[in-house]
Amino acid sequence: MRLSQEFQRVFGATPDTESSAPGRVNLLGEHTDYNDGYVLPTAIPQRTWVALRANGGTEHVVHALSLSQTSRFSRAQPPVERFATYVFGCFETLRDWGADIPYCDVLVDSDVPIGVGLSSSAALEVATLRAARDLLSLHALDDVTIAQLAQRAEIEFAGVRCGIMDQMASSLADTGRMLFLDTRTLDRALLPLPAQARILVLDSGVSRSLTDTAYNQRRAECEEAARLLDVRALRDVTELGMLDALPELLRRRARHVVTENMRVLQARGSDDSASVSAEEFGRLMNASHDSLRDDFEVSVRELDILVALLQAHESVYGARLTGAGFGGACVALCRDDPTLIAQDILPDYNRDGRQGRVLVPASAHVLSATCR
Ligand code: GLA
Repeated sequence: MRLSQEFQRVFGATPDTESSAPGRVNLLGEHTDYNDGYVLPTAIPQRTWVALRANGGTEHVVHALSLSQTSRFSRAQPPVERFATYVFGCFETLRDWGADIPYCDVLVDSDVPIGVGLSSSAALEVATLRAARDLLSLHALDDVTIAQLAQRAEIEFAGVRCGIMDQMASSLADTGRMLFLDTRTLDRALLPLPAQARILVLDSGVSRSLTDTAYNQRRAECEEAARLLDVRALRDVTELGMLDALPELLRRRARHVVTENMRVLQARGSDDSASVSAEEFGRLMNASHDSLRDDFEVSVRELDILVALLQAHESVYGARLTGAGFGGACVALCRDDPTLIAQDILPDYNRDGRQGRVLVPASAHVLSATCR
């Protein structure tokens, strides 16, 4: 409702269609997706909304409410604004898929935190493609295809050689369950969260720096390790002994990927109606953080401090950095009210001027935004 009122205010017309998609938090399986491995994300309550209407003009006009920015672009003149690049990329990949979108007025609103590892870009891409699907009645454009087009938009237009986890999570996950995904086959299952466990996501307050460069570098290292081992991808390494053939740095990178895949498969359990216990899941999260810090080297000091505080809390089963790393957020699996746990921990963490804050559960303010 509020979105169409804002659309009317910004563009002086009613939108033809409105869609939305959530951000995600990854519980386990980090830096495994571009190695054809396994992941376990869940959707977060925060979402991105996209409203649009064909404007009959010669350019797209995209306004981002939360950024107070407007971008105008066409096929010949791509946008310069970063947020609009994702919309442009989606329209371009959609065109390659076979659907030509007319020039549109587009309104974007979002409460997905940006730049902390909760996939604000995937939420924007999936919401944009959903809106385009509605506008053009593209019944053949299923949720998996949307995720694939969104991933291509990110790789080809935003320059990050990401895997498919974020877009699949945004397109297919929900907040009450976790999405087990085999990123090679796209086999998947929505599984219950460990019994009695609740999710807390905290921002370390350290903005992610050099993420794109370092991310692409990690990916290149993994591909080099796979090449030296003569496997299609590191997912195909099933025994740690195989890694002895690698030079030291690549051995550590590959060890993270191989052990992380094992952790996801362990966490998935053998029965789709019940995952492992929260205690066991928590232990796997703790081990994942150690591996990301020591072998994959994508943590930073502040994340290590925050994760250690969480892990030491009596009501926390386990905690780890989440997303690509190099700053941003961490996730914890909690026994009790996550907000109370955050209240115990953040004063300690923020004592030296750090800017830690709660991202999930969303605050009352943010929750009211997601309900509109
Ligand atoms: C980013 C990428 C994902 C994934 C994670 C790390 O979020 O977009 O594809 O690689 O980093 O697990």
